[in-house]
Amino acid sequence: MKKVWRIRRGMQWFRGLQQLPYFWRTARRLDRDGFDQRHGTDTSRLMRTRAAAGYLVNRYETAGTDAIERAIGGVGVDLSRFTFLDLGCGKGKPLLLAAGHPFRCLIGVDISAPCLAIARRNVERCGLGGRIELVHTDVTEYEAPAGPLFIYLFNPFPARILGLVLDRLVARLVREREPIAIVYMNPEHADVIDRSGCFRCVSDLPGEASPYERTLVYVSTDPCGTAGH
Ligand SMILES: C[S@@+](CC[C@H](N)C(=O)[O-])C[C@H]1O[C@@H](n2cnc3c(N)ncnc32)[C@H](O)[C@@H]1O
Repeated sequence: MKKVWRIRRGMQWFRGLQQLPYFWRTARRLDRDGFDQRHGTDTSRLMRTRAAAGYLVNRYETAGTDAIERAIGGVGVDLSRFTFLDLGCGKGKPLLLAAGHPFRCLIGVDISAPCLAIARRNVERCGLGGRIELVHTDVTEYEAPAGPLFIYLFNPFPARILGLVLDRLVARLVREREPIAIVYMNPEHADVIDRSGCFRCVSDLPGEASPYERTLVYVSTDPCGTAGH
């Protein structure tokens, strides 16, 4: 048993080592975009993230300012009707940028307490404590507020969790008939959204600074109740 555990640890350590160049390049690229220097925040540094029970979940990483702004601007809806909801919000960079747009409210949800603690500090540093709400929970247990939703995803979950999130969104669409837009950056599991049958992809934005910033923009479709985007 001890031997299996040691082999597993060894493999984890080796995989971590293999990812170091990617971590380093990404942190350097994000550093160069100057967001943290301008705002005194900590968003560029990548971080391994865990649930309260201790298991690893998709790690924290984020995108460049330009890519996030392009994604928010690429949806083409009246933002003032929508709640911006970052599912797997990490340290909160998209929320901080979304606060510069006329969203009705801004909410971030994350499973990692250390990540959210940094997000809280970032929000305070930017003087946005009264505007941004941060929720510490597993996204599969989160109930979004009523009204139109603008959901931001930066490849936060594996396909199974994304499927559970989509099931909830579809049930909500059928029940409430309020529009939902989804911005999905680094869309590794786009097939999960396509399969739901309730969202239409309206734009495919290439990742200009990095292929990981490719973004698909979806809006909910009429049979699921999206009158008046
Ligand atoms: C790739 S990061 C994206 C961070 C942020 N959206 C951004 O773009 O800057 C993914 C985040 O999802 C969070 N996450 C992973 N699984 C989760 C779950 N089941 N519930 C809530 N958050 C989760 C991780 O803790 C991590 O901070």
